[in-house]
Amino acid sequence: MEIVVRPDRQAVCDLAARLIAARLRARPALVLGLATGRTMSDIYARLVAMHRTGGLDFASAASFNLDEYIGLAPEDPRSYRAYMQAELFDHVNIDPVRTHLPSGLAADTTAEGAAYEAAIVAAGGIDLQLLGIGENGHIGFNEPGSSLASRTRDKTLSRHTRAQNAEMFGGDPAAVPARAMTMGVGTILAARELILVATGAAKAEALARAVEGPLTAMVTASAIQLHPLCLVIADEAAAGRL
Ligand code: GLP
Repeated sequence: MEIVVRPDRQAVCDLAARLIAARLRARPALVLGLATGRTMSDIYARLVAMHRTGGLDFASAASFNLDEYIGLAPEDPRSYRAYMQAELFDHVNIDPVRTHLPSGLAADTTAEGAAYEAAIVAAGGIDLQLLGIGENGHIGFNEPGSSLASRTRDKTLSRHTRAQNAEMFGGDPAAVPARAMTMGVGTILAARELILVATGAAKAEALARAVEGPLTAMVTASAIQLHPLCLVIADEAAAGRL
């Protein structure tokens, strides 16, 4: 694992976006694993700018997002599909049929998880997986106690996570869906390369536990220690407990 510390959030997002752009230029048919959340918005804004002014080309790329809330339709503005459209997909030349998120409306979540895994395999696997980190150390929505071998499935969200993500739901944790479909830790570890991005002091404890261990299902981000090609990019605030 390589850890890079940058002074602030802007510098972190600059570096992450430049690395993603470099991978895309080297391999136009890149299969990207994407994440949502406030940390990612600035990275996507930079990729959009690189597309507009630098010709960064998404025409042959594909994407698979980590997760989606159960019960939200794609057109619901609080869904992760809507987030991805608004932050990235609507502003670059990625082919809509090659952008994937798990469905939040599947009647059979087990079948949906299996279908999502099969789609990743059919696309040739994920080349580069972008990750944020939850304050409780989760990646995707792999809450504490998730198997480190888990695959895409439905997970019940912890009270802490619902509170952390309440902003999009009028600030009311009870309005945040109780469950989500998420790639598993095993799915994430199968990507060829990982970039985990963390900014702000609220992430410092989770990042320290992820990076310095121990490896535990109670901090699913600690599983990145098992990956042979993982870069962590943190600002000074998030790196404060390392
Ligand atoms: C959600 C997502 C995670 C993300 C986390 C942190 O829980 N499922 O993938 O890492 O939010 O989000 P933020 O960047 O808004 O702190």
